[in-house]
This record gives sequence, structure tokens and C-alpha cells, in this order.
Amino acid sequence: MPFLTLAIESSCDETAAAVLADATDLRSSVVLSQIPIHRAYGGVVPEIASRQHLLGIRPVVHEALQQANIAMTEIDLVAVTHGPGLMGALMVGVSFAKSLAYALDRPVIGVNHLDGHVLVNRLEHDWQVPAIALVVSGGHTDLLYVKEDGYEVLGSTRDDAVGEAFDKVARLLDLPYPGGPQVESLAQKGQPIVPLPIPKMNQDSLDFSYSGLKTAVSRQVGHFASEDIAASFQHVAIAHLMERTERALRKTGLRQLYVAGGVSANQGLRTALAETTAKLGVNLSIPSLRYCTDNAAMIAVAGYHRFRQGHVNDYNLFPVPNLTW
Ligand code: KG4
Ligand code: ZN
Repeated sequence: MPFLTLAIESSCDETAAAVLADATDLRSSVVLSQIPIHRAYGGVVPEIASRQHLLGIRPVVHEALQQANIAMTEIDLVAVTHGPGLMGALMVGVSFAKSLAYALDRPVIGVNHLDGHVLVNRLEHDWQVPAIALVVSGGHTDLLYVKEDGYEVLGSTRDDAVGEAFDKVARLLDLPYPGGPQVESLAQKGQPIVPLPIPKMNQDSLDFSYSGLKTAVSRQVGHFASEDIAASFQHVAIAHLMERTERALRKTGLRQLYVAGGVSANQGLRTALAETTAKLGVNLSIPSLRYCTDNAAMIAVAGYHRFRQGHVNDYNLFPVPNLTW
């Protein structure tokens, strides 16, 4: 009998559920996106997100069980994102997961959303630690030293996250939310000819900075074509990520790089990472596109492995909106 994990994710604007059998046999992954609802406001509205999660969670969990062709009573473990994220949004997932676990008399495990982004690599790739991870999402830009049971932060952003920079540049260019994919498709039509500074910091640092780049972009709006601004911004944003990542790999001598988070769906970044790791003789693992942006498969994978390592929660599990590594 396989060990069945039901996972729930509701930290931001996706209501998601997934069923995982043992470590890698993903039986279903359902994502209900609220993007069309928040688009009218140019970004995620927390109160609306909570209400949409409330409406969506039961049908999404039901759909995940149905697609996996299992009954609720067959679940062995309930995994749920308990942070970081929006309090009201997390609350819906955590409350639902705890109630379900209690009713079924099964354990519940709170999963760090960030851990989920990194560990989803285990679904499709070999797991070799120690390794370096590059996490690029809407809230995080981090270089990590990955161990079997956790992480050490080697560097992170001092101001905006790279995904946030994509979203802000999109707004400057009058593109709809969420900005990342919109900037990417516009960039494909332009040339990186707009002068923008590559963030410069102390030679030894593994930290990032994106707010200066965003400000530089705002000064060029109106002076260059939007496509060229998008292409130039993306070029510099990626160059900054590559420079720090290469430095982290050289410094540590590690030969495995895991990449995670919504921005890793960016094709320009994927190509740059492939080139840099090939040059350095480093093995590169990036999730398939559907596992880069928020989903519950990643929560199932992380929940499964952390549970196997002895982690579990009780019914006092509560959301932690500012949860970190
Ligand atoms: O990991 P994620 O789905 O949610 C968070 O945990 O934050 O990441 C969302 C971020 C947003 O900032 C979005 O604009 C960005 O990832 N993103 C992209 C692309 N797809 C999503 N950025 C650049 N290129 C993309 N193709
Ligand atoms: Zn995420």
C-alpha cells in the first residue's frame, strides 16, 4: 500500500490541492487561480483572496481526490502551507487541513511554502545534498546552502525580490498583473539596448538588490520602446542572478544547483542557468513550468519528506505569515 499525502496550498492567490503516493508518484495536482479576479485591482487584494479560498477549497480538494481516484479515508497524511503568506489566506488552508486531519484521525504537518518550492525538485530530479539553491519568487531572492534537514542562507535581497521587480516593471509599462510572464513575452519582441545599471555591491557579497534597477527603468519609460525596456530589464535582472549564483557555486565548490520559485518559469533565466552551469560543470535541476509557480504538489513533496524525517504538528498548528527559512 502506498503512503498517501494530501496537500493544501492557499498562501496567496492560488487555491491548490494535490495527492502524492510515496515520494514521487504524483496522483493529482489541482490549481484554482484567482488571477482573473485580482487583475482588476492590479495586484492581490488580501480580503478577496481569503474569500475566494473559502469558496474554492472544498471543490479543489474534492477534485484532487477524484482525479487521484482515492477516497478521503485513504489519506495517510495531511500537509498544508502554514507560511509565509497572507494571514487570512493561510488561515483557510490551515483550518481546513486541521479539520480534515482531525476528522480522519490522521497526522497534519505544516509546510514552509519556501521549502516546498525547493523540494518539488525531488519530484522530477535526483536529490544530491549538500547543494546550492537559488530561490526566485514574488517575495524571495535567496541563495541557500541546502542540507538534508534544512538550509543556511548565503545571500538574499536587501530590498525588492526579483519577482516583485518584474511585477513593478510591468506596472510601469502598463502591463496587467501578474507582471512576470507579461514582461517576459514583451521582452521577446525587444532588444536589450536601454542603458540600465547592473546592481553593484561588495565583491564578496552574495546578496541581491533590485530596487535601483526598478528606479532606473522608471526613468527610461517614455524614452525607449516598451519592448526594448522589457528586454533590457530582463537582461540585467538575469545577469545579476547569474553573477551571484556563479559566485556561490565557485565559493562553495558544490556541483549541484536547484532552482525554485515563480521566476524560474522565465525562459531567459532557464537558458542563462543552463549556460552558466554547463560552463562550471555543475548539475542543474529546475522544476517543470507547472511546478515553478504556486501549486500543492510542492507542498505534498515537502510534507512527505519532512514527515519522514520526524516532523509533525498537532491541532495547534497556526499560520505564520512571516515564516522564513
Ligand atoms: O513562486 P510564486 O508563484 O509565488 C510566490 O511564492 O511569490 O512566484 C510569483 C512571482 C511573481 O512575481 C511573478 O511575476 C513571477 O513569479 N513570475 C515570473 C514568470 N512567471 C511568474 N517572472 C518572470 N518570468 C516569468 N515567466
Ligand atoms: Zn510561491
